[in-house]
Amino acid sequence: LFGALERQPADALLRLIGLYRQDQRPHKIDLGVGVYRNDAGETPVMRAIKAAEHRLADTQATKAYLGPEGDERFVELLAPIVFGSVKAADPCLTGVQTPGGTGALRLGAELVARGAGRPTVWIGTPTWPNHAPIFREAGLAVRSHPFFDPATGTIDFAAMIAALDQAKVGDVVLLHGCCHNPTGAELTQAQWTDLITLLTERRLIPFVDLAYQGLGRGLDADAATTRALLEAVPEAIVAYSCDKNFGLYRDRVGALWVKAADDGRTAAVRDNLLVLARSLWSMPPDHGAAAVREILEDGVLEAAWKDELEEMRTRIAGLRAELARAEPRLAALADQGGMFAMLPLSREAVLALRTDHGIYMADSGRINIAGLRSETIAGFVAAIAAHLQR
Ligand code: LMR
Repeated sequence: LFGALERQPADALLRLIGLYRQDQRPHKIDLGVGVYRNDAGETPVMRAIKAAEHRLADTQATKAYLGPEGDERFVELLAPIVFGSVKAADPCLTGVQTPGGTGALRLGAELVARGAGRPTVWIGTPTWPNHAPIFREAGLAVRSHPFFDPATGTIDFAAMIAALDQAKVGDVVLLHGCCHNPTGAELTQAQWTDLITLLTERRLIPFVDLAYQGLGRGLDADAATTRALLEAVPEAIVAYSCDKNFGLYRDRVGALWVKAADDGRTAAVRDNLLVLARSLWSMPPDHGAAAVREILEDGVLEAAWKDELEEMRTRIAGLRAELARAEPRLAALADQGGMFAMLPLSREAVLALRTDHGIYMADSGRINIAGLRSETIAGFVAAIAAHLQR
């Protein structure tokens, strides 16, 4: 049986975690995998999460099974943060808890694979390297459309629209709700309007990956395009992650919402989500979602979470602005948003920076801006200066 299997390369991004750990140089800088870091370079458990976990330890009476939908109250309390309170109550919208944003993407992909018309999933170039494998492993055809042009460091919107014009009715378009990973580049308001018009006219289904809400422009601003999309189209899918904005990475906390054309179809969608979740993971892990529920059920804890998230967001935005000021060739970073930026560096340059300076970033030149510190920016800019291609 296993004789047919071939060796597989390790995930390039996750491999960086181990490489960085093994590097003994004290001045090493980790700009690899997307986790928030404070100015001491740490990723602490958020204060509100700690408080919620203490509360859970004291009061949780059972760990008996829930169900494939996970913690329903968690989903109910999270929905207004994502969609606003009016839209969250839309009977055409149904949501379940998932193991992280990846679980949400996979569950959504499996649902798409059960849908009508063998849709193709359209994915921008570049995107998070795990997007295409998630859809392909669910048996779906994946096609790329241009998004960010590394040669100019800007979004090639005309090429994106021209490619999506080739999509057939019912195809699915994967969109980053905010904080584009890996580029940080953002469509303008006018471009979003044009894109929504195209999706509506050609009856394409948006599949929004919203993994960084609150880490770009703010909780509401980061959800604005997701809300506008849901307003405009009859069917949509939203994969959500709490891993970054609640700092719950390894606890794997996410949710999937699907909007169907009417509430009868929503019931069928939900039935299918539950059947799929049951066969994929039976039910999602409880702990992280229960901690989020504790926070969102308590006004004081919720306010504390929002304050800390805002501290994180402002720190990232400040570093982004500092970086843009320190190196004129990176000025465009100031107009982008979120944790990531894709620097114009060749793969060879990325490897040289790793070997010569202990600077760890993704092979694509993507950096996690939160890995920088005020005191390391000048050294970082000096190290990359000779390698920048624009
Ligand atoms: C990232 O892009 O660094 C994060 O989303 C972590 C991951 O799972 O790849």
